[in-house]
Amino acid sequence: MSLYYSDNYVEIYHGDCRDILTGMPDDRVSSVLTDPPYTDRTHDKARSRSHKVDGRDIIKSGITAFTAITEKDLRDILTECGRVAERWVIATMDYRHAVEFDQNPPSGLKSQRVGVWVKTNPTPQITGDRPAQGWEAIAYLHRAKGRSRWNGGGKHGNYVTKIAAPEGHPTAKPLSILEDWVAMFSDPGETILDPFAGSGTTLRAAKNLGRKAIGVELEERYCELAAKRLAQDAFDFEALTTVNGGI
Ligand SMILES: C[S@@+](CC[C@H](N)C(=O)[O-])C[C@H]1O[C@@H](n2cnc3c(N)ncnc32)[C@H](O)[C@@H]1O
Repeated sequence: MSLYYSDNYVEIYHGDCRDILTGMPDDRVSSVLTDPPYTDRTHDKARSRSHKVDGRDIIKSGITAFTAITEKDLRDILTECGRVAERWVIATMDYRHAVEFDQNPPSGLKSQRVGVWVKTNPTPQITGDRPAQGWEAIAYLHRAKGRSRWNGGGKHGNYVTKIAAPEGHPTAKPLSILEDWVAMFSDPGETILDPFAGSGTTLRAAKNLGRKAIGVELEERYCELAAKRLAQDAFDFEALTTVNGGI
């Protein structure tokens, strides 16, 4: 585990988020905004696009790959996120996990809402024998203690956007979604954590909006990608037009 990049707003650690989380004090950050890898369960029906290494699924998506995590890991890591975050823990995930966490949240958290991200250019169903999935669930979890608040008033937490343009990471999330999360679920000057930072979309969104951010990424090649993105002076505008909200 090592500090890979830092500037006035952002720190990126190269390593396993479980190690970094264990060393973090309670309430170290305001909120966690993250996009964990899919679990083995999600990939159970997608073997044609994945294979196993050391007994774990490797997600293959064209140019590159990263490991899946287990359902237990996901619950344990979100529990730790709830310990180090004072407010929100928000994560994209397979709808089955989102429903499970809605009914039985990770320890120390409560479920406030399950949202959806509908993709306007989803990956086609490779087998052709059923409709493609085309959407992901969003678990809006909050620290069990304390009143939740956000900056969105009565608006919804659903998104309709294109999948982000490939930038060297197979599952980079749309910057517009992360910027909306940052604006809605944190205030200027607060610190956001992304334990699965990937290409650094959350970190870039936080920096764009004047928040501090801590990112953790297991793979050095993605740390490098995120660091390059963060080091750009100009704001990182999305290559593809996105349609935010709308349903
Ligand atoms: C779905 S991707 C996140 C993509 C990111 N939202 C973006 O826009 O680029 C999940 C990332 O978590 C990383 N990862 C997987 N297990 C990890 C762990 N235990 N600790 C830290 N990072 C991990 C993977 O290498 C991958 O880059």
